[in-house]
Amino acid sequence: MNKIVVNGGERLFGEVEIGGSKNAALPLLFAGILTGEVCVFSSLPRVSDVLLALEILRALGARIRFVEGGDVCIDYASMRPALPSVCLTGAIRGSVYLLGAMLGRFGKAKLGGAGGCDFGSRPIDQHLMGFAALGAEEYTENGALCLVASEGLSGADITLKMPSVGATCNILMAACAASGRTVIRNAAAEPHVVALCEFLTKAGAQISGKGTDTLTVYGGKSLHGCQITVIPDMIEAGTYLCAAMAAGGRVTVKNVMPSHLGAVLDVLREMGATLTVGKTQITLRAPTRCHAVTVQTGPYPAFPTDLHPQFAALFALGSRTAGEGQMVERVWQDRFRYTEELVKMGASVKISGERATFFPKMLAPAVVRSPDLRGGAALLLAALSVKGRTEITNAATIGRGYEHLETKFRSLGADIRVFG
Ligand code: EPU
Repeated sequence: MNKIVVNGGERLFGEVEIGGSKNAALPLLFAGILTGEVCVFSSLPRVSDVLLALEILRALGARIRFVEGGDVCIDYASMRPALPSVCLTGAIRGSVYLLGAMLGRFGKAKLGGAGGCDFGSRPIDQHLMGFAALGAEEYTENGALCLVASEGLSGADITLKMPSVGATCNILMAACAASGRTVIRNAAAEPHVVALCEFLTKAGAQISGKGTDTLTVYGGKSLHGCQITVIPDMIEAGTYLCAAMAAGGRVTVKNVMPSHLGAVLDVLREMGATLTVGKTQITLRAPTRCHAVTVQTGPYPAFPTDLHPQFAALFALGSRTAGEGQMVERVWQDRFRYTEELVKMGASVKISGERATFFPKMLAPAVVRSPDLRGGAALLLAALSVKGRTEITNAATIGRGYEHLETKFRSLGADIRVFG
């Protein structure tokens, strides 16, 4: 998709079915490499980042079959530890998971580059520190990062500098192949990290401490193929709830795990939303006017950074929000690029270090450029609330993480068209 055109100003009403989580699916797809067998993935979201991950696996020898009913069946048996094309791996962040998975299965791994949204620097020093502690050596070959464990991997006690999702998942995968016990301290506890632990356990690994900041892996057991259902996407669900706040109306998100959205639901209530929370669905009735709040992002269970831009857009909307809202970004150095585009619609924002303060103004339609996945979603939400035609270019960035965007928003009554 190249461009999204929104004729905003309509309130949203109805139900929307949330898909599988992109950020849970990516580590699972690469972790399957460790089994060397057939794994079946249910509820795999067909977003472009996931489709690219499948292409990378196929290029390395995996056999992929889309089964009737929606499951994806992957035979990892004939994979080889080759260097995948940088054109593929450089397009998504998830390709970094090749390192832990390949190292675990073959004792070596190569990666020319990993992509993802641009939030300033995205170091992988903590991944590499963990691999080194497990016994891997690192070198570069024609610009590619290479890892080799010539004497095999052995368990270690590893403390992360920060609870990194990527480093936790990557070290977990390698640790499953390392002999003896590995402890990962200051580990990330996001639902997608727990989902990876569950997949590895189903495949035969022994892991304790799931969902806490200390994970213990008893490694060295050979893993086998299994089936897994990808957990619902908490960020997609949060985006639709926020959209209902931005446009007004009443929206139900179905197929969600409300416990994953604790911090988000607290903010929505504080802003004046009326929420009805069921076992697997949440209904939000938007207030006539939202109260401005201060939100600080952080590792789970804090408010997720991947919902920062969407809520910030809501703070900017003078037609919907009263008072000055603040967004404090504690995960990424540079996640404020979307604000330049909101300013083109008339937003007023002051950024000082990690804090952005929004002074609500009446926004107007404009031609804006999506800077990244969630920043693009934020522009879409602003466009939905503003009367008139807003055009969002570079919309492929949004397609990286939102499935059936046009159909889902149209089913809620939005006038939105996706081109390309
Ligand atoms: N960090 C380091 N060194 C490392 C690893 C991370 O300094 O070795 C720092 C990062 O610079 C950042 C913080 O630690 O400041 C957290 O990074 P983390 O490793 O947790 O992020 P990630 O694994 O690269 C995933 C998601 C992101 C999401 C973050 C935080 C995937 C593919 N990506 O990235 O999702 O923002 O966790 O929750 O899972 C998105 O979906 O829009 C997205 C960007």
